[in-house]
Amino acid sequence: MCGIVGYVGPGSSLDVLLGGLKRLEYRGYDSAGVAVLADDGTIGSRKRAGKLGVLVDELDAAPITDGRTGIGHTRWATHGGPTDVNAHPHFGDGGRLAVIHNGIIENFAELKAELIADGEVFESETDTEVAALLIGRAFRETGDVTAAMQQAVARLEGAFTLLALHADAPGVVVGARRSSPLVIGLGEGENFLGSDVAAFVEHTRRAMEIGEDQIVTIRPDRVDVTDFSGAPAQAKEFEIAWDASAAEKGGWPSFMKKEISEEPEAVANTLRGRVHDGAVTLPELDEVAGMLGDVNRVLILACGTAAYAGMLGKYAIEAWARIPVDVELSHEFRYRDPVLDERTLVVSVSQSGETMDTLMAVRYARDRGARTLSICNTQGATIPRESDAVLYTHAGPEVAVASTKAFVAQVTALYLLGLHLATLRGTLAAPDVAGVIAELESVPAKLSTVVESASARIAELAHWMSDTQSVLFLGRHVGFPVALEGALKLKELAYIHAEGFAAGELKHGPIALIEPGQIVFVVVPSPRDPSSLHKKVVSNIQEIRARGARVIAIAELGDVAVVPFADEVIRIPLAAPFFEPLLTVVPLHIFGMELATAKGLDVDQPRNLAKSVTVE
Ligand code: F6R
Repeated sequence: MCGIVGYVGPGSSLDVLLGGLKRLEYRGYDSAGVAVLADDGTIGSRKRAGKLGVLVDELDAAPITDGRTGIGHTRWATHGGPTDVNAHPHFGDGGRLAVIHNGIIENFAELKAELIADGEVFESETDTEVAALLIGRAFRETGDVTAAMQQAVARLEGAFTLLALHADAPGVVVGARRSSPLVIGLGEGENFLGSDVAAFVEHTRRAMEIGEDQIVTIRPDRVDVTDFSGAPAQAKEFEIAWDASAAEKGGWPSFMKKEISEEPEAVANTLRGRVHDGAVTLPELDEVAGMLGDVNRVLILACGTAAYAGMLGKYAIEAWARIPVDVELSHEFRYRDPVLDERTLVVSVSQSGETMDTLMAVRYARDRGARTLSICNTQGATIPRESDAVLYTHAGPEVAVASTKAFVAQVTALYLLGLHLATLRGTLAAPDVAGVIAELESVPAKLSTVVESASARIAELAHWMSDTQSVLFLGRHVGFPVALEGALKLKELAYIHAEGFAAGELKHGPIALIEPGQIVFVVVPSPRDPSSLHKKVVSNIQEIRARGARVIAIAELGDVAVVPFADEVIRIPLAAPFFEPLLTVVPLHIFGMELATAKGLDVDQPRNLAKSVTVE
C-alpha cells in the first residue's frame, strides 16, 4: 500500500516522480503528492486527495519550480482519512524537510504526545507527521539527513518505508525500510528509489535490493547502504526482467483487459526454460534439494486469489507427490499456535511478495524451524528475499489491482513444484511426468482460444446482467477454487454480492438462497473424467434449476449433458482435470471485468483496495 518514488540526478524530478507515481498508482490511489528541491534551495510541494490526475491538474494550475532532487507518494489511507492535509509529503524542521511514508508507525500516539508536549504543532492526523517531525529535529542536531534518519528510526516501531529530503542537502534523498518495500534504481549520473521497480523501470533496468532495517542514501553519483546503526551493509544488484512497455496499457482500454489477454503468455513464461524432454528442471531449487527430499508436509500460505491458487496446488501436489498439503490464509496462521518442524515446507504464494500477512506468517514459520519457499511474481520483493528458496512466476508486471494473470502463473508454478517433488520422491514414473508436462505445455494455446472465443459472449451476458444484485458460483474438486475466484472477482470489481461454493455443499444449506432468477455460474468437470463428478455436478445443476436458478455453465467442448439444464454454456477446450481450472477461470475473470465495465466502474482501481497490502 502506498507507492513511493525518489529521484536525484540531472533530469526533471517532476517528470520522474509523476511517471513513477503513474506506474505505482495501483498501490494506493486516494491521494498523491510530491516535494521537489529547486536549485534556489526552496522546496516546492503539492499534494491532493483523489487520484493522481487531481495532483497533475493542481500542478498545472499552480506549478512549482522543478529541480534535481525529489520525492513523490501515492497513498492508501491508514491513519487519517484521504484529505489534502493528510496526503504526503509531510514536513519537519519548519518546512525544510519533506518526508513520505508507507506502512504504519505503531507507537505514533506516544511519540505524538511527547512531541506536542515539547511544543511541536501537528497539521495532519497521520502517523507520518511524527516521523517527519522526529527526522526534522534530528537534522537540526546533526545537519545530515542520513544521520537524522538513523536517529529517528531508532524511535519508531511498526512497519515503514520512509524517504526524506532536506532543503540544505541538494542532491540527496535518504530512505529507510523496516518490513515495508523499497528498492534502488541505479542510473548513469542519477539514482532512484521506489516501492517497486515499476517506479523507475522507464529510466533504468539495473536495480538493488535493500535489506530489512537498512538505510540508503542516494546521490547522483553514489549509493550508500547501511544498517540502522550506520554500519555499512551489502546490497544485492539485479537486472529487471521486463521493460517499461510491459507496465503500460499499450492501447488497451484497461490494464485488466490487457492482463487477461496476457494469461496465456503468463503460463508460457512461467514454464519457459523449466521443462525439457518431458522432465522438470528447477535450478533455482538446487540449493535446497536436500531439504526438499526430506520434507514430510507442505503448508501453503497465501491470501485472496493467491490462496485459491494454493488450493489448486494442494490438489496437484498431493496427487502427484503424495505429501500431505494444507492451505491456510496467512493472517489466520500464526495466531493459532500451529505445529511446525524442520520437515515442514512452507510455500508462500504472493504476486507482490510484500503482502504483510504472508510475510509475517513466513517469518513465524521460519522462526519455528520450518523451511520456506516463496512463489512470487516480483523480483527483489521482501518475501522471496527472506525465504530459503524462490520460484519466480514470470507473469510480468500486474498493474490492475485485481489479480488475473498472476493467478494462472501461480498455479503453473505450484504444478511445477508438485512435479519436481514427485520426481524427487519417485511418486510419479517418468512417462507420467512427461504426460503431465505435455498437458501443461498445451495450456497457453488453449488459454488463447478461451480468451478469443469467450470474450464477446461474456461481455454481452455481463451487460445484460448489469443490475444484478447477487451471483453464485459453484464448482467441485479443482472447480471449487475457481468458483471462489469467480466470486471474489465479482465482489471486488463490480461491488456485487457473490459467493463461491463447493457444489456438494449446496444441499447442506446454501441451496436455500436459490430463488427464481438467481444467477448461478457452474464450473462443470469433464464428462471424460473417470470419477463420477461430472454426473454429480449435472445433478446439482438440475437441483438449482428446479428452484428457478438461471444457470451459466462453463463446460468443455462436446459436453452435451449440460445443455438441457443450462441457460447458457460457455465452452472451454478439452484438458485433463488438473488443467481445466487454468481455462475455466478465464471466463470468470472476463465476467467480473465486463460487469464492472457495464456498471461504469474503474476495473483497474476498485474502491477501498490496493494492490500490495503492506499492513496487517
Ligand atoms: C484479488 C487479489 C487479492 C490478492 C491478495 C494477495 O484479485 O488480487 O486477493 O491475491 O491480496 O496478494 P499477493 O499475491 O500480492 O500476496
